[in-house]
Order: sequence, then C-alpha cells, then structure tokens
Amino acid sequence: MFPKINFTQTQAYKYLADHYISINEYTLRDLFGADSQRFTKFSLRLEDILLDYSKNRVNERTMALLVQLAKECNLEEAIKAMFGGEKINVTEGREVLHTALRNKSGRPVLVEGEDVMPKVNAVLAHMKDFTNRILSGEWRGYTGLEITDVVNIGIGGSDLGPVMVTEALKAYKTRLDIHFVSNVDGTHMAETLKGLNPETTLFLIASKTFTTQETMANAMSAKAWFLKSGAKEGDVAKHFAALSTNSSGVAAFGIDTANMFEFWDWVGGRYSLWSAIGLSISLGIGFENFEHLLEGAYVADEHFKNTDFEQNIPVVLGLLGVWYNNFFDAESHAILPYDQYLHRFAAYFQQGDMESNGKYVDRNGNRVEYQTGPIIWGEPGTNGQHAFYQLIHQGTKLIPCDFIAPAISHNPIGNHHQLLLSNFFAQTEALMNGKSEDQVVAELEKTGMDKEAIEALKNYKVFEGNRPTNSFLLKKITPRSLGTLIALYEHKIFVQGVIWNIYSFDQWGVELGKQLANTILPELKSDEEVSSHDSSTNGLINQYKSWRD
Ligand code: F6P
Repeated sequence: MFPKINFTQTQAYKYLADHYISINEYTLRDLFGADSQRFTKFSLRLEDILLDYSKNRVNERTMALLVQLAKECNLEEAIKAMFGGEKINVTEGREVLHTALRNKSGRPVLVEGEDVMPKVNAVLAHMKDFTNRILSGEWRGYTGLEITDVVNIGIGGSDLGPVMVTEALKAYKTRLDIHFVSNVDGTHMAETLKGLNPETTLFLIASKTFTTQETMANAMSAKAWFLKSGAKEGDVAKHFAALSTNSSGVAAFGIDTANMFEFWDWVGGRYSLWSAIGLSISLGIGFENFEHLLEGAYVADEHFKNTDFEQNIPVVLGLLGVWYNNFFDAESHAILPYDQYLHRFAAYFQQGDMESNGKYVDRNGNRVEYQTGPIIWGEPGTNGQHAFYQLIHQGTKLIPCDFIAPAISHNPIGNHHQLLLSNFFAQTEALMNGKSEDQVVAELEKTGMDKEAIEALKNYKVFEGNRPTNSFLLKKITPRSLGTLIALYEHKIFVQGVIWNIYSFDQWGVELGKQLANTILPELKSDEEVSSHDSSTNGLINQYKSWRD
C-alpha cells in the first residue's frame, strides 16, 4: 500500500526540528574538526561510483533521525509498491514501472496479472534489429543511399533524456549524426534541416501521447520538407519511425506501424529514456551500449530496492534534500557536473525533479503546509565558476550543490583533466571551509597594504563557508556508470515525493497553459482586435497583430 503520511506529524520530524537548532551551532569546519572519520562515515560506493556526502551539515544523529523519518513515512512500503506494479500514479490510474524497462533479473513484472517482460524484450529486440540495419547500411533511404543523419522530434521527456544521454556518451558515437528538434519555434527545425539531405535523413517522431502540439507540428513540417525533395508518400516508411504508446495516432499520421516502437502508459514521459524513446540513443551509441546503459540502471534499482536506508544512495540523497528544503529553507538545488559531456544533465533533471515534485496538493487531496520540490538548476564546471558561483559562495541564499566528476577523462589532453579536477576538489573545500577574517587580513598584510585599506576591504573578501555539497566521483563516464547515476537520481526524486506525501508521477500543472494556448491560437489567425482576455493579454495580442501586418 502506498502510504499517505504527513511527515511534519511524525516523531522524527519533531526530533529533527529540535536537532536542527543544535546542529546549527556548528559549522562544517567544526564538524570536521571534531571527527576525523567523517569521510569514512559519510561516503557510499556503488560499483565505480563514490558518493561523498560528508560535507553536509549533518552528524550521525542527523542521519539516524532522517532515516527514522523515512521509516515513519513508510518508504519501504512505497518502494515495494512501485516495483510491485501498484497503481501508485493514482491521479492518472497508472502503474509506475520504468524499472521494468531495465529489469535484467529474469524475473517477471506483473501489470494487472500480466507479465510485461516479454513485450519489453520484444521492443528491445526490434530496436536492436533496426539499429543494426541502419548502422550496417542494410536499411537504405528512398534513393538507395545509406542513412547518415537521424532527427529525433519530441519535447520534454521525449527529448531531454535522449539529448542528455547522447551528449553524455558522445565518446561512444556511431557513424550517425543525431539531431534533436524540440521547440515549436520554426527556427529549431529550420536550422537543423539546413545541413541535411532528405535522401539520407531518418526522422524519429518521439511522443508518448502522439498528440503533443509542438511535436505534431514539427513532425508535419519534417514530412513536408521530405516530400518536397521529390519523395513520394510511399517513401515515408523508409524515413520516418514513431516512438509512442498511441498506435492509432501513429497510423493516422501516415507512419507504417511496422516502424512503430511501442511503450506503455506505465512509463512516465520523464522516465522514458529507457524505453523506445531511447531509440535515438541506441542509434547514436549502438545498441550494445544502450544495453549497458540499461544494465547500469538495473544496478541502481537493485541497490535502491535491497539496501538498508543508511547505506542507500537515493535514500540518503533524498533525505539530505529534505533536510535542507524543510529545515534550512533552501529553495534550490544545483547540479554541477565537471564533465563537458554532461552539459545537459542538470537540464534533464530540471524536468525529472521539478515536473515530479513541483506539487502543492498532497496525497490526501489537501494543500500542503510545507515546502515540496526545490528549484533544480546547474551548468558544467568550470564554466559555472566564472558565472554564478559568486552567489553560491557569498550570496544570502543557501544552495546545496551536487558536484559530479569522472576520475578518468575520455579526452586526456595535456593536463586539462587535472586542471578540471583540481577545481572540482577545490570548490567543495572552499564552500565548506570558507576564508576567515584572520586569513584575509594576513593575506592582505603580505601584499604590503596599509591598515586602513585592509580595514575597508577585508569584509568583502571573507567567505563564511559552511555551504553544503555532495560529491559524486565516478571512475569514468561509461554507458553503465551513466545508467546507474541517472537511476540513482530518479529514485532520489521518488524518495522525496514519498516524504512530502505528493504524487510524483502526474503533471497536471502543465495543462492550463496548453488549454489557453489552444483558445488563443484561433484568435491569432483572425485579424479582429481581441477583447476576450484581461487588458494585459489583450494588449499583447493586439500589439502582435498590428506589428505582423
Ligand atoms: O507537457 C508536459 C509533457 O506531458 C511531459 O510530461 C512530457 O514528457 C512531454 O509533455 C511530451 O509528451 P509526449 O511524449 O506525449 O509528446
């Protein structure tokens, strides 16, 4: 049974509220000074991934109370309910089984009594066959040429995961160039198609529902571009494939259902890169590497399902997030990969986390009286250091950060990787220790600055420190380790949704804007002045109309 517990009513929450007051008296520097074993005590490993969470404002009591909180919120039952195929996405009446897509245990996964593994494996076999036929050149375009370019057309979960992984694993690139068009802004399509040849281009129309306005508009435009090259309607089958749950929508669009790669309602859009939505990944890095990605995710699933909460990486990450969100009032959480290949990682988890846990109604249907999902953001290091780290170091907001880096680079040019990693290590150290007034004064004195000038400048150069970070150090970014890392973050989101007592797998909050856009679209088509909205919206629409004419 999926629990419905208000975590602020638990014993653990009350203890944590008291404990917060006492731990707040100590800085991270104090905590490290008092305990030389913090790294050993507060770090976890899973295969070639190390999580060091010792630079957090916690001690053993904090972690024990947070684990108690998870237990009182019945997290164990919730995990069982998800993996067991219960309809935990209650508001949509669906199971949540992205874990079945990477289930390598050989055990069945039941949805309403039916084992879904045979159909999961059949789609994987279809993806393998298709990928190999395209890559070997057996599959040809309508003029007999090999496919050289693939354009994935999709948005949200049908875009962000494939983009992120394809970029993250570029070191494993096949001979195909993979492009992504998501925005309905015609510029995205126009700029992507500029360098492409319709005779050698394959389009993947990626949409769970096959009704998403942006994706359908982009798919129609891609088809029109393709047909303009002289191709016939019958040639569409060689250049268009669909990744969807909606077979009638796919057929109505004119795509041969033999070229349809199916997935199911129990796969949430933002958890779908493991499904047929991952076809662009498979084409981009080869099916074998796609399999390794799934195997990596399976490692995380088993870890999450079977490990005691104290040692369970997603549980620990989730609880630390709750600690900062609900006790320290942190509003956001930064994800900072020190790996250029991971440059879309934070963007991917913006959807993963914010679409999942950006909710103010709890599982009892009531408005919550506490904070839920944080604002997720981030950019790769070291670039971020020269942009927004100033605020993380000396701003007035507490921003817990995740630092992520590989020990081994795919591109060991000169000493670049050591330069990169020296920054990775230095930043978390600086955020933790800061720089005291005494240090600042001593440094300034060394430069020969006079007392008065030092007095005027010193406060600006002090760093309070005491800013919490997690560090993920991976041996190397491989399909397997990336699969594990992504799935660990997915499960962290799940843990937090359980604690906050919200439904993490629906996304009703994106509907209103869509509805209103549908009302406004016909108004834009006519030349009449619009007066049906508030004065601001009317004013903007009417200005647009007068400028376009
Ligand atoms: O509008 C939000 C959303 O529904 C996301 O949840 C989803 O990932 C995206 O749109 C795309 O949906 P689809 O795959 O059905 O086109």
